[in-house]
Amino acid sequence: LAVAAERVAAEFEYSKEDVNRGVQAFIQQMDEGLGKKGATMSQIPTYVTAVPNGTEKGLYMAVDLGGTNFRVCSIQLHGNSTFSLTQSKVAIPKDLMVAKTSHELFSFLAKQIELFLKVHHEEHYQSHVERRASYVGFGTMRDENIFSLGFTFSFPVQQYGINKGTLIRWTKGFDIADTIGKDVCALLQKEIDALGLPVRVAALVNDTVGTLMARSYTSPGKQGTLLGGIFGTGTNGAYVEKLDKITKLKNQSADAGEIDDSTGEMIVNTEWGSFDNHMSVLPDTSYDRGLDAGSVNPGIQMFEKRVSGMFLGEILRRALIDLMNDPSVPLFSDDDSSRNDISSTTTVASDSPLYKQWGLDTSFLSITSGDSSYGLKATRQALNSDYGVSAASAEDAEAARLIAGAIGKRAARLSAVAIAAVVITTKSLESSAPDGVVDIGVDGSLVEFYPNFEEYIREALRDVPQIGPHGEKRIRIGIAKDGSGVGAALIALVADKKMKGTH
Ligand code: BG6
Ligand code: GLC
Repeated sequence: LAVAAERVAAEFEYSKEDVNRGVQAFIQQMDEGLGKKGATMSQIPTYVTAVPNGTEKGLYMAVDLGGTNFRVCSIQLHGNSTFSLTQSKVAIPKDLMVAKTSHELFSFLAKQIELFLKVHHEEHYQSHVERRASYVGFGTMRDENIFSLGFTFSFPVQQYGINKGTLIRWTKGFDIADTIGKDVCALLQKEIDALGLPVRVAALVNDTVGTLMARSYTSPGKQGTLLGGIFGTGTNGAYVEKLDKITKLKNQSADAGEIDDSTGEMIVNTEWGSFDNHMSVLPDTSYDRGLDAGSVNPGIQMFEKRVSGMFLGEILRRALIDLMNDPSVPLFSDDDSSRNDISSTTTVASDSPLYKQWGLDTSFLSITSGDSSYGLKATRQALNSDYGVSAASAEDAEAARLIAGAIGKRAARLSAVAIAAVVITTKSLESSAPDGVVDIGVDGSLVEFYPNFEEYIREALRDVPQIGPHGEKRIRIGIAKDGSGVGAALIALVADKKMKGTH
């Protein structure tokens, strides 16, 4: 069993040479995306041309449609790099992710905003309702109490302005054909208006952009943040790019509207989940291929499918099933002659989630990779309670742990490819002081919970000659937990100022 597990784990090795080949291709595909629409990496201009410096103030709302949860928050920015956040969070119902119409999803979102306002801002909500009832004028009522809301929408959107953007494609298992090509801000505003809520959707923000903004608002030092990265259900990054390198903007002036070019920079949403969709350098095992073929979007998000939380569990499940189906490998079976404990019978329940597509949750990888208990008790317990494997042996658990660790490590080393490419292509190490810091904000369940994820990233960064051990030490990676809400509020603030002509 151990030999078979090692053989499978070896399939996930991602060497120093692989990392460097990945970085070269990543830089090339980033450049391609800056030059033209329709490249494998979308490199979406966000129209956000400045990062905050911590002095911004005010009360804003934000909603955040990630991959797994929907959050509604109100944020008081204090103007001294701190903020207070009130928030509520609900899991997005699975049936809404694949609903027939956009209305089903977006009316649910508006309903959550209404509930939030009633609970956390009742006075605000009531006074608006009363004023609306007594309003006798024509047209839209002016109301100073209207909240500006930043909408964090964590999917690829072609942005046409600060609060306008059409959905390019769904990712992370969402599949509502009706929404493709529609302006998601308008969809949300329509449902908010249908409920008569005092809320204006002022800004549209990808979670990576929000994370970058939030990190920049709170990060120590004044050098600003280079990159916001998400390593969670999905993976993606947004970074600060020189305006004149985004050459496709020149050919898109009709789309572009007014660009504030005073900083000479713009945040670009890379959508790196789609790096190398044509598979020129990405690693590929039979488990990766099986996962892709069975997904709702084969051939798309090929990088994300090897890196992020939505997929790692499924890769492991496929690897385990292959071993279980191999009569010469005694995984979860009493035929294992190497077992120490032969007193109990190992069985896998016929309705075990292990037999179902997406049945194995990525949290299992975190549990087993972090399991230092004697005889891998925590792993065996999870196998028993969550996956219907009763009396798994220590050898079974060790096999699962070995393969899970290899899948997690490959994901982290691939994540390093993305980070290294952004650091190198922006020449950030050269342009900061010799011992200066390059700041990166990250968020997401994988980087937060997978043991040693950052350390594996760092190991791979040291493998890249243009970075090396010295450069790696100068890269500061900080968690911007739930940061995208704050980031969205900051962008709503910028949009507001623009609208009122005070910027
Ligand atoms: C949250 C952010 O903290 O992290 C979301 O607020 C983001 O915007 C999410 O999408 C990513 O993590 P996960 O693990 O929930 O996908
Ligand atoms: C997916 C989405 C992207 C998002 C990322 C992280 O890759 O396409 O927009 O940023 O997930 O949530």
